[in-house]
Amino acid sequence: MKTEILTVDYNDPQLNKAIFSKAAKVINTGGLVAFPTETVYGLGANALDGEAVKKIYEAKGRPSDNPLIAHISGFEQLLPLVKEINENAKKLMKAFMPGPITLVFKKTDVIPMQTSGGLDTVAIRYPENRTAQEFITACGVPIAAPSANTSGKPSPTRASHVEFDLSGKIDMIIDGGSCEFGLESTIVDVSGSVPCLLRPGSITLEMLKEIVPDIKVDGAVLGALKDGEKPKAPGMKYTHYSPDANVTIVRGDIEHTVAEINRLLGENTDKVCGVVATEETKDKYDTENILVIGSRKHPETIAANLFKMLRKCDYKGYEAVFIEGFPESELGLAIMNRLKKAAGYNIIEL
Ligand code: TXA
Ligand code: MG
Repeated sequence: MKTEILTVDYNDPQLNKAIFSKAAKVINTGGLVAFPTETVYGLGANALDGEAVKKIYEAKGRPSDNPLIAHISGFEQLLPLVKEINENAKKLMKAFMPGPITLVFKKTDVIPMQTSGGLDTVAIRYPENRTAQEFITACGVPIAAPSANTSGKPSPTRASHVEFDLSGKIDMIIDGGSCEFGLESTIVDVSGSVPCLLRPGSITLEMLKEIVPDIKVDGAVLGALKDGEKPKAPGMKYTHYSPDANVTIVRGDIEHTVAEINRLLGENTDKVCGVVATEETKDKYDTENILVIGSRKHPETIAANLFKMLRKCDYKGYEAVFIEGFPESELGLAIMNRLKKAAGYNIIEL
């Protein structure tokens, strides 16, 4: 299959109109279109068409018990998909939608089991990215979309990442530039009486608590699951975001972190090693192989660059990568959640 790549241009409304109508035709005939959102690129299919959704799992190599998020471009699209919208859900929708959040509801039969991965709930996201909204609106159906990466690899934050992973396996990629937030959406389960954070993201736990103070946090958010323990978001149990390299996170105060990483570099001279450093530390390492993820003063930049850096580790052929850790408050919770998974929970606490 040839994958067509179409670049939107907001100075050229005619071009965009043609792109969205072409993309809608692909979706409405059961095909796959990758599209940008403010979090990461998604790989979309008609969420109401079980056969189309099956193709997503094939293209990504994704286990079929891992449910997909249904994307909407207006609240009126939500009503047929969910059984009830309780008070907590209403509050979170009012505060954060459209935006980088996903809410899990009890589903109706309109959602096929291929989309919900066999669960009786459905995850709903209303992205705020303009291209995402115009694409979904043109399609006229909710769009089931996981991140548009090969299963297990870092999520794509640029069209070129999608092309690298999925070219030849999907019909179309809409290139809308790089993603603003760069981490996948915050997921909150609102299907029960107490909301529960399933995946941390750019809408932080602190921000959620201001709206729903009694929110719980699923065990999978902070650390690896113990044997036999089941995460509420099935996707959290799979290996994620891993570069081919062996990844180690080192966390402590800056001085000790740098010293420990330099010690590890000295211990691993038989391998091609890289360091994912920050603006504050980039000149302090005994290697040329430095990727700068951003400044510790700007966690948003670190979040936006994170997946690009993990991909770069592969493109550069690093065999061992040492990454500086961050405090787990505010956006740091989501950053560390992704880093810990990339490292397979291989973390040195100083
Ligand atoms: O920002 C995002 O959320 C991106 C963009 C494209 O919207 N999408 C994304 O999808 O990250 P994906 O498939 O890579 O991650 C979705 C996560 C998985 O961990 C999945 O298990 C969980 O959401 N999930 C989906 N439906 C669920 C449900 N009904 N109950 C609990 N977890 C669910
Ligand atoms: Mg994903």
